[in-house]
Amino acid sequence: MPRSVRKGYTLGEAMQQEFSLETLLQHLGEEEPFPYGSVTPPIMQTSLFTARALRERNAQQGRNEFGYTYTRNDNPTVRLAEQKLAALEGTEDALCFGSGMAAIASAILTFAGSGAHVICVDTAYPPTRTLLESWLTRYGVQTTFVSGECVEEFEQAIQPDTRLIYLESPSSLYFRLQDLRAVSELARARGILTLCDNSWATPIFQNPHALGVDLVLHSASKYLGGHSDLLAGVVAGRRELIERVRQTRELLGGILEPFGGWLLLRGLRTLPMRMERAHKSGLQVAEWLAAQSPIAKVNHPGLPSHPQHALARAQMRGYSSLFSFETFPITEEHAYAFAERLRLFRFGCSWGGYESLLLGWAQGEADAQGKAPWLFRVYVGLENPDDLIRDMQGVIDVLAP
Ligand SMILES: Cc1ncc(COP(=O)(O)O)c(C=O)c1O
Repeated sequence: MPRSVRKGYTLGEAMQQEFSLETLLQHLGEEEPFPYGSVTPPIMQTSLFTARALRERNAQQGRNEFGYTYTRNDNPTVRLAEQKLAALEGTEDALCFGSGMAAIASAILTFAGSGAHVICVDTAYPPTRTLLESWLTRYGVQTTFVSGECVEEFEQAIQPDTRLIYLESPSSLYFRLQDLRAVSELARARGILTLCDNSWATPIFQNPHALGVDLVLHSASKYLGGHSDLLAGVVAGRRELIERVRQTRELLGGILEPFGGWLLLRGLRTLPMRMERAHKSGLQVAEWLAAQSPIAKVNHPGLPSHPQHALARAQMRGYSSLFSFETFPITEEHAYAFAERLRLFRFGCSWGGYESLLLGWAQGEADAQGKAPWLFRVYVGLENPDDLIRDMQGVIDVLAP
């Protein structure tokens, strides 16, 4: 094929087209053939990009003729992932980081200076909470935590110095939602920036920016990477905001490395199909658990029993496969016996890969009989859900009070 023949689409062109996400993920940013006709993009494993002429380099603020300087600032492999992520989230631009926490911390640090007040949902990912609650207080940032379940709570928590509202919908462990459109409207009217961790729903099921949220954040270590072999994070939003976060990324050095960018690109190619499967399998296992007598409650936004199910249906197109369930008071021995007799679930803190996972904790102090309710977090992987249910079926009675 002659070099002049272009395939694929640039981000700008793609935004004009009405392609489905599956198509965009394969072709976006791939309008030039990769070297030697390679199907997969090259991994630009370089720290440095040199210029051919010093005069031009100086005239272009240190950039070479291709626009690159140094991989702490930018890298073509990472850039391709960023273009696809911006298209997925429907934002003007996106940035990749070396972890979800690097993305979250860089976004917050960019916009919450000394004296700033932040409002955050109290069931946000615990290290995000710790960052706001104990670490940023050293720099004069104060945070008010709210359950986030009604807009009035945000309104009441607003102070003259409120700069950011930090959302995570659905949030960690209890999978509570915030009304993203209503909170964004409230914030925008008062000049407050909104940020939303969208790791759970992924851009396949929810686009917070389309509902008015300014910056969308991801732990790409979860579904976006999808194979439990990548640590990465994303910030997506309007170009002017992304440019400010980019400066923070350059100064703090949190960019994703090129091989990570390549792994992320590989993961993104199958994201829509994996999420379709996650939606079906997660709901099937959650529905089965909800019908088991030893289970007191299943926290899954896709179940009609979830108190915010109507909001979930209104602002999401589907559900991922991470949820939790609660037991009646049981002994620690029974809780651990249940977990350990499962053969297809491993115990680990991440999620979004191919392998099913389980975690569990007692909720509060045990009573006189040594019993307490337990919360189990379930991640349904890519195994057949019938097999996962069969695995649980054999041991579920251990959880009977
Ligand atoms: C909802 C959520 N946000 C952010 C993160 C942080 O991402 P990372 O582990 O990539 O730093 C996690 C990680 O578990 C998470 O579950």
